[in-house]
Amino acid sequence: MAVQEGELWEFVLADKLGSGQTRDTYLCALNSETVVKVERELPAFDNFTEFDLWKNMSHNFEAQAKRWLVPCRRLSQGGKYLVMDRCWPIKDWSVLPKRIPAWLKADAHVGNWGVDRSGRAVCLDYANHYIFRLMKANAWKLEPVKWRA
Ligand SMILES: Nc1ncnc2c1ncn2[C@@H]1O[C@H](COP(=O)(O)OP(=O)(O)OP(=O)(O)O)[C@@H](O)[C@H]1O
Ligand SMILES: [Mg+2]
Repeated sequence: MAVQEGELWEFVLADKLGSGQTRDTYLCALNSETVVKVERELPAFDNFTEFDLWKNMSHNFEAQAKRWLVPCRRLSQGGKYLVMDRCWPIKDWSVLPKRIPAWLKADAHVGNWGVDRSGRAVCLDYANHYIFRLMKANAWKLEPVKWRA
């Protein structure tokens, strides 16, 4: 028997915590330490981008990723659902850092930041990033190459 999408949805998703231009965020009913970010329209790439960035950044820059980014945990096959650690809205702007990593300046509005369990400000929406603009200066510079077979 086919699983009814509505029933599974209610089983997995609890209260809606917020919405952005492309995604809605729900508390995960199965684990209240996490949220599920749902793309409203498909095809969509923000969940993919965020998950991929978390994987790459936490692999290559572990300490910085853990300091600044809310960890992603799981991505559904088609990218519609992303499980991320939960954080809380910024109520007191004095917790916001005066300086943030350059690539996170792309979309530095307060709704894209939250506080983690320890009260520290962290970025919860890093899908719209600045990396390509930062790359511009040196990534297109011509350099000698040794071709491999
Ligand atoms: N990890 C999280 N914990 C708690 N709430 C969250 C989390 N991630 C997102 N939210 C809430 O959901 C809202 C929408 O999420 P997000 O900003 O990622 O969506 P978006 O559609 O990409 O936003 P934007 O309009 O900035 O592009 C956030 O503003 C925030 O209120
Ligand atoms: Mg956002």
